[in-house]
Amino acid sequence: MTATRPPEAKRILSGVQPSGKLHLGNYFGAIRQHIALQDEATCFYFIADYHALTTIREAAERRREEQKAPVDYGATLRENTRDVALDYLALGLDPDKAVFFRQSDVPEVHELAWILSCVTNMGLLERAVSYKEKVERGIDASVGLFYYPVLMAADILIYRSHLVPVGSDQVQHIEMTRDMAGKFNQTYGEVFPLPTYRLDKGAKVPGTDGKKMSKSSQPSNSIDVFAEGKALQKTVMSIVTDATPVEAPKAPEGNTIFESYSLFATEEERQALAERYRAGGMGYGEAKKMLLAKINEHLGPARERRKQLAADPDYVEDVLRRGAARARAEAQKTMALVREAVGMRPAPYPPG
Ligand code: TRP
Repeated sequence: MTATRPPEAKRILSGVQPSGKLHLGNYFGAIRQHIALQDEATCFYFIADYHALTTIREAAERRREEQKAPVDYGATLRENTRDVALDYLALGLDPDKAVFFRQSDVPEVHELAWILSCVTNMGLLERAVSYKEKVERGIDASVGLFYYPVLMAADILIYRSHLVPVGSDQVQHIEMTRDMAGKFNQTYGEVFPLPTYRLDKGAKVPGTDGKKMSKSSQPSNSIDVFAEGKALQKTVMSIVTDATPVEAPKAPEGNTIFESYSLFATEEERQALAERYRAGGMGYGEAKKMLLAKINEHLGPARERRKQLAADPDYVEDVLRRGAARARAEAQKTMALVREAVGMRPAPYPPG
C-alpha cells in the first residue's frame, strides 16, 4: 500500500504581467472571471514583475512615445506594477480572500526554477511558440526570455496549484509545467500536483474598428477600462459604423455598438435595444450615447475606487506586503519538501 497525502483544498493561481493600461477586452475576457473565482477557492494572484523584465525595454519605449518622457526602466516597471495592483483592487479583487502579491516578493521562486531547469530538456523549451513569436516581433532573444517558461512553471508549482486560468496563448506554458512537474515527481518523488488550465472565455469584445480589441492594434482600437470624461466619450463616438441612414431598420447582430452594449446590459435592456435597431428611426449616434452611459454606470464606481486607492499608496503597499507574507509562507513549505527530496537541508541556515 502506498501512503497518499490527504488531498489539499483546491488552489487556483494566475499571474498577470504589468504591461500598461487595461482595455475592455482584458476585463471581459479574463479579469472579471479571475476575480469571481476568489469566492470559489483559494486564489493566488500575482503581478509578474520578474517576467516583465524580459520585455521592459519595449514597455519603456512605448511609454516614452505616449508620454514624451525620458526612458527610466525602473520607474516603468514600478509604475506599471502599481497600476496593475490598483486596477485589480478597484475592480473588486478582495485581498482578504485572494492572496494578492508581487512575484518579486517571493524570491524562492528562482530556487525552484533552477531545480526544475535541471529536469527540463532543452528540446522542451526550444518548442515554445511564445518564445519564437516574441523573437520574431523583435524582442531581444535573452536567456531570460528563453527560460521564461521555467520561471512560469515555478510560479505555478511553488504554490502547489491545481488550476491556472489563462488565455489561449499561455496553454503551451501550462503543458510544459505539467511536463516539468511530472519529471520532477518521477525523479524525486511526488511533490507537485499536476496543474490543469481553464481557458479564459475570451468574451468577444469588438474594438472601435469592429475587429478584435487588441493592445497592439495600430491605430488603437481599445476602450480603456479606466478611461473617463471627454476622452472616453471621444473613443466611444469614434466607433466605426456603416452608413445606414437614421430612419432605416438596422441589424443588431454583429453591430459593434450593440455587441459592446450587450456586454454591460441586462437581457431586457439588450432586447429593448435590439427592438429599437430593428424598428428603424434610431441613429448610431444615439446608440453610442446609450453605450457610453452603460460604460459609465458599470465602471464608474471602479474608477472612483481606483482614485481613492491611488491616493493611498501606503494601503496598496500594505495589501501587497500582506499578500507576500501569505504567499511566501506557502512557497517556503513547498521548498522544504523540494529541497529534502533533492538531497538538501529543508531550509538554508540563516545568516550569522
Ligand atoms: N506568462 C503570463 C502572461 O504573459 C504571465 C504569468 C507569469 C503567468 N507566470 C504565470 C500566468 C503563472 C499564469 C501562471 O500572461
